[in-house]
Amino acid sequence: MPGRPSASRRTVLRGVALTPVAGLGLAACSGGGGGGAPATPTAPVVLGAESEVAKGGAELYQDQNVVVSRAVDGSLTAFSSICTHAGCAINKLDGTTLVCPCHGSEFDARTGKVLRAPATEPLNPLSVEAKNGKIVAGPEA
Ligand code: FES
Repeated sequence: MPGRPSASRRTVLRGVALTPVAGLGLAACSGGGGGGAPATPTAPVVLGAESEVAKGGAELYQDQNVVVSRAVDGSLTAFSSICTHAGCAINKLDGTTLVCPCHGSEFDARTGKVLRAPATEPLNPLSVEAKNGKIVAGPEA
């Protein structure tokens, strides 16, 4: 028997740090800090088909903690979907409004701006591009 009590939070987070694709089950609020915050991509990562994000719409990629929106002119914008209040992974996108599960902060997925407290800082912008029909996001350029 390997001495593994279950996928502990620490184990899961370490996996995320190395391979963003493994980011499952991180919606729980870490509440009050310490290490172990969910993370956004540190290297370019393919999120999905370009067609998934409609003009004027947005798509939340929870596994990668990225939200992508598309302006009416077709251009893409991406932000980290880690809440700037206490670092929870946002798991709800209502139209183009992101809703944090921890304390109810809301953000505009198109601009990253705070729509509802307690968060006061906008979401962190990420680089994003369409490549061969896929959306690829990465750390801030
Ligand atoms: S972590 Fe508090 S509202 Fe998101």
